[in-house]
Amino acid sequence: MRQKLVAGNWKMNGSRASIKGLLDGIKKGIGDVVDSEVAVCPPACYLGEVESQLSGSPIAWGAQNLSTEASGAFTGEIAASMLNDFNCKYVLVGHSERRSLYGEEDATVAKKFAVARAAGLKPVLCIGETLQEREQGVTNEVVARQISAVVALEGIAALAAGVIAYEPVWAIGTGKTASPAQAQEVHAFIRKLLADQDAAVAEKVQILYGGSMNAANAAELLAQPDIDGGLIGGAALKAEDFLTICRAAG
Ligand code: PGA
Repeated sequence: MRQKLVAGNWKMNGSRASIKGLLDGIKKGIGDVVDSEVAVCPPACYLGEVESQLSGSPIAWGAQNLSTEASGAFTGEIAASMLNDFNCKYVLVGHSERRSLYGEEDATVAKKFAVARAAGLKPVLCIGETLQEREQGVTNEVVARQISAVVALEGIAALAAGVIAYEPVWAIGTGKTASPAQAQEVHAFIRKLLADQDAAVAEKVQILYGGSMNAANAAELLAQPDIDGGLIGGAALKAEDFLTICRAAG
């Protein structure tokens, strides 16, 4: 059985004060979450505060992005070693906002996956189709292409060191969740795609769903056989909503 993972992606939201309140709330309720792992991904500048508030708790933390480079003249970038310095466990790579707003292509995302893995971080590889791609009927081709960029660079076994998050772009931040059946269909496709190359990897890798998952719809999504957790944006900014999703995961 794969353990479920519920990760909050706070995106560019919060302040020192709001983050303290949010983490206090999550810590209070986390005892009810027995079997699943919970993680939060704050803006990088708050990683130190998050680390000091969560050390010793069962909640893990991670970053939303990292540089492909190790160090040097890369203004504004953050290296994997810096994330390790703050004891991050996870780092998102290739979130659709990075892909669409900051021009990250499959090859860059694959490199970030490789750099994170080499540093001992667990990369969360975000993939998913746009509305136009879904309407064109090419969802499977898109997610296969996004995964194969990592496999081409790193080999199939590398995927087992990370997590995959399937996030249909049309569902992110829109309130339009994929139906449990729609999500399960793509998750099963991804699992099969991996299984055709390495059955053990397919069995092991957690595939999260992301895109308007909330307190009301989480239980049904998380009950699907190939949905191993959630990557939560908006609903991760309210402790009670986030905890409801974590409890639904088990
Ligand atoms: P959302 O974001 O839950 O607000 O749709 C999810 C994500 O982008 O990771």
